Amino acid sequence: MFGTMLDAGVLRPAAVEVLRRNDLGTVTTAAPDLYPHQWSWDAAFVSIGLARVDVRRAITELRSLLSAQWSTGMIPHIVFSPGAGDYFPGPDRWGTDDVTAKPAGVRTSGICQPPVHAIALRHILERGRENGGADLDAAEAFVAETLDGWLAWHRWLAEARDPDGVGLVEIHHSWESGFDNSPRWDAPYARITPGEVPAFVRRDTLHVGSSAERPTDEEYTRYLWLVEQMRSVGYDDARMPGTVDFRVRDVFFSGVLAAAAEVLAGIAAELGRARDAAEQRAMAARFRAGVAATVDPVTGLARDYDVHAQEWIGPLTAAGFAPLVAGGDPDLLPRQRAILLGDDWMGHPALRFPLPPSTSPVSPGFRRRTYWRGPVWPFLNLLLGWCSARDSAWELRSVLRDASLEQLGDLTFAEYYEPITGEPLGSHSQAWTAAAALEWLG
Ligand code: SER
Repeated sequence: MFGTMLDAGVLRPAAVEVLRRNDLGTVTTAAPDLYPHQWSWDAAFVSIGLARVDVRRAITELRSLLSAQWSTGMIPHIVFSPGAGDYFPGPDRWGTDDVTAKPAGVRTSGICQPPVHAIALRHILERGRENGGADLDAAEAFVAETLDGWLAWHRWLAEARDPDGVGLVEIHHSWESGFDNSPRWDAPYARITPGEVPAFVRRDTLHVGSSAERPTDEEYTRYLWLVEQMRSVGYDDARMPGTVDFRVRDVFFSGVLAAAAEVLAGIAAELGRARDAAEQRAMAARFRAGVAATVDPVTGLARDYDVHAQEWIGPLTAAGFAPLVAGGDPDLLPRQRAILLGDDWMGHPALRFPLPPSTSPVSPGFRRRTYWRGPVWPFLNLLLGWCSARDSAWELRSVLRDASLEQLGDLTFAEYYEPITGEPLGSHSQAWTAAAALEWLG
């Protein structure tokens, strides 16, 4: 049986050690072999965990990420570390070196990931305030120094990715969602006929127990086709919608933006930036409303929208709980919590731990071992836990916390876990999993 009883005296130093081993100095690799560079939303969760042990190192993590922000405001999803391990697709394949919006001297991908960063910033500030002294000074100085960067990031998402103001962020690659091969994306990808994709050799499958834990080659061909399309227009925001075959309004991404904008509004207000605070508050309201409007009256879950096909996306995935991330709605949230704790999700009797699988076990698309098609993701549980605490949903938070700590007690710090057996899958020593352990321990 995987997992052991919680022993904080063992879990905490083991998690700290994982972050130490992934530390390249000013960035933390998402995982030692599979992901040997800095990933955007991983870095945010990593900084939440780091703030529990070293506030100034947590600040460095976010500062490094922000130094790769494009002049448009976009924060790229991968910041490549020179000389770090091999990863495919690397910077040459992304072809961003000549993109003028990218800062000179860094190599990055050309897409983004969900904007959890302001939430991490809030955690850093809280830890700084708890510790006082130099940590407090550093945290307050960092927040003041970088507020404009985080504001620009949110504004770019709201303007470039939701130009019509529907309150949903449009993504152009499933890697932008973070839920790479979720059944959410099967229908949009099935409609794509990839054009010519230069030959490629995958490296990801070398670093997992079985290639069944990763996306398929057919999926990778589509992933790379989209990179070719975006690259062909130099990642120009104005030309992307007319170019890419994948255009989806991502409900989970939008829920994260709503939550993050509310947090950033609070931070801006504390800094006396009333106008920015009001703007972020309005942005939060807009994306909360956008997310709420997607809820399927039959399932009670939120849905993505396929722009090319002009249709809702059906499969029952964890993204359906985007309203719980977005927060706010006093009628919708309790209904969603009841579904999440119910038999189709955390209360499913076959689960090893009462934690939400990435796809519902009752869904035909459920695959227990395959990446985003079923496994449980610890960072996602932490995010849902934070949202629950924000909304005083203490029952949900306590189930998430107790089960997470029990799961993480196996000390593998796996990227994801098989929901029925509890077996660790994907990469081990995943940085954001270790960070989640540290944050749960508090
Ligand atoms: N998650 C992707 C990968 O598997 C990239 O963001 O490589």
